[in-house]
Amino acid sequence: MPGMGEHRETDFVGCVVRDSRHGSRVTAWPSDPKGISQVFLLPPPMKALMLVGGFGTRLRPITYSVPKQLVPLAGKPMLYHVLDLLPNDVEEVVLATGYKADMIDAFVRAHPPRLPVRTVSEAVPLGTGGGMKNAGGAMSDPFFLLNSDVIARVDLAEMARRHVAHGGVGTMGLYEVEDPRPYGVAALDADERILTFVEKPELADAPSRWINAGFAVWNREVLDAIPPAQAMSFEREVLPGLLDRRVYGFRITGYFDDAGSPERLLRSQRLLFDDGRGGKGALPSGTFGKGPVALMAGACANGASFGPYVTVGPGAVVDAGAHVENSILMEGVHVEKDASVRDSVLGPKVRVRSGHSLVGQVLGEGVEA
Ligand code: GDD
Ligand code: MG
Repeated sequence: MPGMGEHRETDFVGCVVRDSRHGSRVTAWPSDPKGISQVFLLPPPMKALMLVGGFGTRLRPITYSVPKQLVPLAGKPMLYHVLDLLPNDVEEVVLATGYKADMIDAFVRAHPPRLPVRTVSEAVPLGTGGGMKNAGGAMSDPFFLLNSDVIARVDLAEMARRHVAHGGVGTMGLYEVEDPRPYGVAALDADERILTFVEKPELADAPSRWINAGFAVWNREVLDAIPPAQAMSFEREVLPGLLDRRVYGFRITGYFDDAGSPERLLRSQRLLFDDGRGGKGALPSGTFGKGPVALMAGACANGASFGPYVTVGPGAVVDAGAHVENSILMEGVHVEKDASVRDSVLGPKVRVRSGHSLVGQVLGEGVEA
């Protein structure tokens, strides 16, 4: 294969090669009339780092017993919906775990995801930056970084291609929201370069309404900018210092939500169902009302009625005559006959007694309501 300067257009047709200088794959299309100007640079095979160590405080009391990434929505744990965003050719996903690391480890062993997954846990919480440093040692260059509560439709392969094309140290997924205060907020120039980034600003200090959607492509060198064995926030303490080395925004136009609070968890579930990511999603046979409803393994709801947007977790039971809508029932929940549950998230083994009505509740494991 000739060097980059001397190739003929046909040399690249139908082939994928590794460019040792850039560590990139180079491809071209047969009909390409302009040769090199139409050659696309792709990143080399990539790994992904997912931050899975948060306490999930906004989802207490559920998260006292279950890490938020294992909460099911639209019939599947949040973690697996986030993994679904990654392209098929991702070589390995490293989960940077901390809080309830053993549970996450056991779960992914018992339910192997589509991509190879490995966990690296923190003895003490290291924050997003410390967690990246602790678990990121074997990352590719560049690598994907994902928060573990991102519910979105986004083409991450396209984001990686853009990253290689514009050549900075990072490319962050951005989404436009009405109220940017709960997020990290970026201001961009005309070339989509991020000029400022402010984590959780007051409205008056928000430089735009484009927020960090919790997924990015970073070059390995960003890990060198994080000191070892120290708890720190990547967004607050590391990211602002990287902007000089060029960080770009990748605006997403699909949907996005952060499933980190009960209200947003239920909103995320609706987004997933509406996007067809809730399994079959229709109304299960033997039930009444309106779907989508996802019945997980061993769940039973014969004779029950549903409003739309419900997950009935593994082994959960909704008795005949009971009604559930816009809710998540986790493993082993029992909604007894003539009870009703709306706009609620019920932790494992919660029991809703016959005839009782719950609206807008978030109940921890084993509660009897
Ligand atoms: N390993 C590890 N260690 N992971 C952690 C730790 C830790 O100490 N603390 C938090 N995480 C993980 C969480 O599990 C989550 O997946 C991710 O880091 C982000 O933490 P959140 O607590 O969900 O942060 P946030 O939602 O307030 O803000 C973040 O996400 C927003 C988008 O949803 C920031 O990245 C914002 O800039 C962003 O806009
Ligand atoms: Mg979050």
